[in-house]
Amino acid sequence: MNPVRKAVIPAAGFGTRFLPFTKAVPKELVPVVDKPVIQYVLEEAAASGVTEAAIIVSDGKEAIGRHFAPVSALYDRLRHDGKLALLESLEAIDGLMKLTYIPQTELKGLGDAVLRAEEFVAGEPFAILLGDTVTTSSNGVPVTRQLIDAAMKAGGAVTALERVPRELTNRYGVVDGVEDPDGLVHVKTFVEKPAPEEAPSNLAIASRYVMTPEIFGFLRNGKPGKGGEIQLTDAMRALCAVQPMFGLVFRGRRHDVGSKLDFVKATLEFALARPEFHDALAEWLKDLRT
Ligand code: UTP
Repeated sequence: MNPVRKAVIPAAGFGTRFLPFTKAVPKELVPVVDKPVIQYVLEEAAASGVTEAAIIVSDGKEAIGRHFAPVSALYDRLRHDGKLALLESLEAIDGLMKLTYIPQTELKGLGDAVLRAEEFVAGEPFAILLGDTVTTSSNGVPVTRQLIDAAMKAGGAVTALERVPRELTNRYGVVDGVEDPDGLVHVKTFVEKPAPEEAPSNLAIASRYVMTPEIFGFLRNGKPGKGGEIQLTDAMRALCAVQPMFGLVFRGRRHDVGSKLDFVKATLEFALARPEFHDALAEWLKDLRT
């Protein structure tokens, strides 16, 4: 498989689960401590070797583009005030990677959002990172890099998987496959939101993917599935019938910040990981519980 240089970052969705906040502000700009979710996503992609990304956006999401564009008046002020560390941190965002914004004019689902990037991807293997989901790694390797390494080794598309409680399988896309000792799963198929007693496993699809360009054929011909949307999972199911496909139980954790509870968990986890907040926050949490 060729190296993975490109990423597609779907960020066009309505974010109804996070209303009322998302009425005026894209959910991809929800802050986790002091950075918007989508900045963590791009930093993960860059740390994984991605050099070019397409962010899929819709009307009302213009602020995402503004977050990644230089603001000369602000930079001049920071320079003038000698706030050079802050200035550097902002310039680092601007230089993360080459960004392209692709509109999704009708919100027809995640699969349709990915399909908008077919021309951008131009026949290469590519990563997909959901723009509203942050990850942490427990082995020092960014989650997207874990997937890219697995894809290069196995020679096929790889989907991030996480173990979920059995009784919650009906909230997730779940894999049916055979897991080897390294956590690599040879996928037979995917099942959308199975009841716990019918679920083939408790391994859920988890917001990060490395895909081969053949996925676009299945997305183009995809019929609207659940909720009238073009589902990425449906196209993945079709793809795994014609080429080997894998899942990876990645080392780390993910938080879907588009869910209010996950947003709170992500905020606490990321704040606890910051030395300047750790002790005070841990102390306060202990106090809160007693
Ligand atoms: P979600 O499944 O969370 O959907 O999308 P949503 O519509 O944004 O949110 P809720 O369920 O109404 O709260 C996962 C990712 O895919 C993007 C979203 O922006 C999010 O980053 N997405 C979803 C699109 O780009 N286009 C779509 O049509 C749907």
